[in-house]
Amino acid sequence: MEKIIDETKQGETLVLEPQKANTKKLFIESYGCQMNFSDSEIVASILADQGYNTTTQLEDADLVLVNTCSIRDRAEQTVRKRLEKYNAVKKINPTMKVGVLGCMAERLKSKFLEEEKIVDLVVGPDAYKDLPNLLEEVEEGRDAINVILSKEETYGDIAPVRLQSNGVTAFVSITRGCDNMCTFCVVPFTRGRERSRDPQSIIEEVNDLASRGYKEVTLLGQNVDSFLWYGGGLKKDFDKASEMAKATAVNFSDLLALVAEAQPKMRIRFSTSNPQDMTLDVIRTMAKYDNICNYIHLPVQSGSDRILKEMNRLHTRQEYFDLIDNIRKIIPDCGISQDIITGFPTETEEDHQDTLSLLEYVKYDFGFMFAYSERPGTMAARKLEDDIPLAVKKRRLAEVIALQLEHSHINTLKQVGRIVEVLIEKESKKSDAEWSGRNSQNTVVVFPKEHYKVGDFVNVEITSCTTSTLKGKAVGYSSNN
Ligand code: 5AD
Ligand code: SF4
Repeated sequence: MEKIIDETKQGETLVLEPQKANTKKLFIESYGCQMNFSDSEIVASILADQGYNTTTQLEDADLVLVNTCSIRDRAEQTVRKRLEKYNAVKKINPTMKVGVLGCMAERLKSKFLEEEKIVDLVVGPDAYKDLPNLLEEVEEGRDAINVILSKEETYGDIAPVRLQSNGVTAFVSITRGCDNMCTFCVVPFTRGRERSRDPQSIIEEVNDLASRGYKEVTLLGQNVDSFLWYGGGLKKDFDKASEMAKATAVNFSDLLALVAEAQPKMRIRFSTSNPQDMTLDVIRTMAKYDNICNYIHLPVQSGSDRILKEMNRLHTRQEYFDLIDNIRKIIPDCGISQDIITGFPTETEEDHQDTLSLLEYVKYDFGFMFAYSERPGTMAARKLEDDIPLAVKKRRLAEVIALQLEHSHINTLKQVGRIVEVLIEKESKKSDAEWSGRNSQNTVVVFPKEHYKVGDFVNVEITSCTTSTLKGKAVGYSSNN
């Protein structure tokens, strides 16, 4: 259910294998998108070299770091509440240092040090390699800040420590930043220009994960479809590259094929796709390789052409439908999910009806739906009045969610009676006698454990379902095992 309402993950504290020589204790928690969770692994890796082991006990920590999200106001409020909690602990343990990382650090910059007296350290998403220097400054009693955004930083050279991992699925970041400038979105301001990571270092990380027993990777980026490596990775400078560099450039479709071939036994996923950048080549590559999962998260935000234009989404409703039709033609059983915003400035009832009719057309498997939240500094905040009353935003949101739930249920019901391949990830939250995993389409499947174990690929016969979960019984190992 939480999947349907909001993809912003609540705080999770991260732990890793302690290193004996390390004596200092780091408490690091992350909010927001998967990229933040991935970044926290990079931060933990950098700090392990600085003598820090992770702890789950806030009270024991020498250093508390919170990796923050600015995407909606509510995400920021949650972090503010956590800062209050740290403040209470700091009263008992005054030597404890507190640092803010990620998008809120970038958005609020030095204001954080002024507004929140307990914050000692403010570090933006591109400055984590500077943490050792910044911590030295903090040790010497000064507040420290680095919020410089980079055009090159991809952390490609840092081997992230997999924190609190199930040892089966991992995220590998392939691009950072976003150049799309959707008018509602704060990401281009907090995460900077879009740059791609060297494919060589991506493949090395995937190979390393495979050698450590991982069975699935999700290639991560704000807009994976615009991945482009031409010896340099900054998207906006591609036009200036030499003819030779252009001719040998690696795009997202090429990268998918490289990863799929490097590890044919591994499941490959990716997130997030942008309709205007997704090419037919990508869809064909997905169809060509069995190990690339048949699932696309394809945010649409609105079904109204007028609102799409106001949002600076560079596609029309019809172009989106054409893309969906092509996906279904090339990959008939592809799982598709959406992001939708209700109550964007000037949205009329008619625009809202367009969103509902778009949902009817696509019949997504699931989705992440949000009421519009004005973000300071964005184009929408500067140019458009936030004129839709909260009650209207919420009512429209409830209507979108209700329709999505209907469609989710139609889609899960269709699976009953089928046999699907599932990668076992963990114990089911509801029962310690059952495993939980996902099928290729990214729907959660729950079934009795029997003799199977985490990391096995099994064929499961689906016997029943809820709106978002399939239930069944394993009928044997899959051929991928
Ligand atoms: N208000 C509401 N939702 C937003 N999103 C991004 N910015 C906003 C905002 N200002 C949603 C979009 C995006 C997802 C990650 O968060 O749907 O795809
Ligand atoms: Fe934000 Fe649009 Fe970039 Fe997604 S594609 S991160 S919504 S600017």
